[in-house]
Amino acid sequence: MSTEKHILHYETSAPKDKPAADDPLAFGTIFTDHMFVMDYTDGTGWHDPRIEPYKPFLLDPAAIVLHYGQTVFEGLKAYLNEDKEVVLFRPEENMKRLNRSNDRLCMPMFDEKFVLSALKELISLDKDWIPDREGTSLYVRPFIFATQPYLGVAPSKTYRLMIILSPVGPYYKEGVNPVKIAVESQYVRAAVGGTGSAKTAGNYAGAMKAQEVAEAEGYSQVLWLDAKEHRYIEEVGAMNVFFKINGEIITPSLNGSILEGITRKSVIELLIDWDIPITERKVSIDEIMEANRAGTLEEAFGTGTAAVISPIGELFYDGEKCEINHNEIGELSLKLYETITGIQTGKVEDPYNWVVPV
Ligand code: COI
Repeated sequence: MSTEKHILHYETSAPKDKPAADDPLAFGTIFTDHMFVMDYTDGTGWHDPRIEPYKPFLLDPAAIVLHYGQTVFEGLKAYLNEDKEVVLFRPEENMKRLNRSNDRLCMPMFDEKFVLSALKELISLDKDWIPDREGTSLYVRPFIFATQPYLGVAPSKTYRLMIILSPVGPYYKEGVNPVKIAVESQYVRAAVGGTGSAKTAGNYAGAMKAQEVAEAEGYSQVLWLDAKEHRYIEEVGAMNVFFKINGEIITPSLNGSILEGITRKSVIELLIDWDIPITERKVSIDEIMEANRAGTLEEAFGTGTAAVISPIGELFYDGEKCEINHNEIGELSLKLYETITGIQTGKVEDPYNWVVPV
């Protein structure tokens, strides 16, 4: 892996207008002035790291990514803390996961420290784009894709790594309010042995059909079940999922088809620190519906970088509606949301050293 360490800067001569202070910042629709780019060539390794004006670029119509989806991505956020310093939340975890995803997709590893330093350099240059209203942040999207023009099914010999930045408000229009979820019994997101634990485009494209059907029926997202038995819970929408039953928190164990969420990991670490029982194990949809009937299902919520904590207010499965916590945000969900976003924005102390200055 050869990486040229010096990042060239080509700064824009035509900065764009920034969003107004009261812009709702619909998720992922506005992009900053600059982007980071680095190329890879077999034999040479990663080369030509540079920061350029944000703009469309040329791609050969035969590029492998367009045909066979050889691409991976990450999502993390930069915040302006109370002292107006720019900080990131556990960014080394995103770098590690990006390399793990690379490995699964037969893509070349990169130097995590170097790309993290490039990411910080890019954010520093565009720091005036970081919104500071409650619930807003600068979403950071690193991604890598196969650029070789070739229609044979084989790993590309050339790649591009890019980082783009987007000022964002809440991911869901519901914000931190509970969402209605349909349990998906027909389509599956991922199978053990597949690419479910990698952050790769195909997982998301393959999930859109179920999402579309659920939305048409008035649900925000689907709850994914396992591919083999359609029985065990995997994820909710593009998030990991947690349930509180009789005071115990349960989340599906990482089985190879579930994404290793960084918010998931942070929630587990917080619960351990708070002495709240947390178990990672297989959990079936029948167990959840049964707990609901017995009145012991106290809370359910999704976790992810984009939405942080997203409470589930209702599950619909096999003709049965299951209302959770009267469709209100639960005490624990709220505490987790306030703690994590508080740590991210510097309002809550960070004894775990999760927050990293840019
Ligand atoms: C997240 O929860 O951060 C996600 O993975 C959603 C993202 C693909 C927008």
